[in-house]
Amino acid sequence: MSINTALIQQSSAAIQKLGTKVTEHFYDYMFTHYPEVRSLFPADMTEQQRRLFQSLLLITSNVDKTDVLLPYLHQLGVKHIRYDVRPEQYPIVGKCLLATLKHFLGSAWSQEMAESWIGAYNLASTVCIEAAAEAMKPDRYVPITMADVP
Ligand code: HEM
Repeated sequence: MSINTALIQQSSAAIQKLGTKVTEHFYDYMFTHYPEVRSLFPADMTEQQRRLFQSLLLITSNVDKTDVLLPYLHQLGVKHIRYDVRPEQYPIVGKCLLATLKHFLGSAWSQEMAESWIGAYNLASTVCIEAAAEAMKPDRYVPITMADVP
């Protein structure tokens, strides 16, 4: 599947103008269709809506700059360990993101745009999930020894 980065940036620019009402819609949609993930998030979603919006802008504006994007996604994936997010929950966010983009982009939404977002989301999720798995590898534990006793 090919990722047309120009199309992603174009759709992101349109979304940017709408502000956090996009992420508000995203979370409303997700909590309605996937109520099982609601308890992972805080009661007041104002701050989280802002953070996700900023994150999407950062990702989309750097979608063709892997030197910026990969370290960002890596640390984001590791952060999600703390939030108790599991790999099988990533498709939920992806499906709700696509539904949200389609909702706001209206006639500008196209098959090629959808395919590009799907490709980009799958790649971004894979980086996040692999970074979290790497951070949790048991061999990162270095056994303590007598040398550690003060
Ligand atoms: C590539 C996909 C994702 C992106 C870009 C993303 C983005 C973000 C960002 C930017 C934050 C704020 C991090 C911070 O500054 O501390 C965050 C927090 C969080 N995310 Fe994600 N996320 C993704 C996937 C997921 C998934 C799949 C879930 C689970 C359904 C999830 C659940 C959460 C939770 C529970 C928080 C913490 C909310 C809080 O306690 O304030 N995220 N995410």
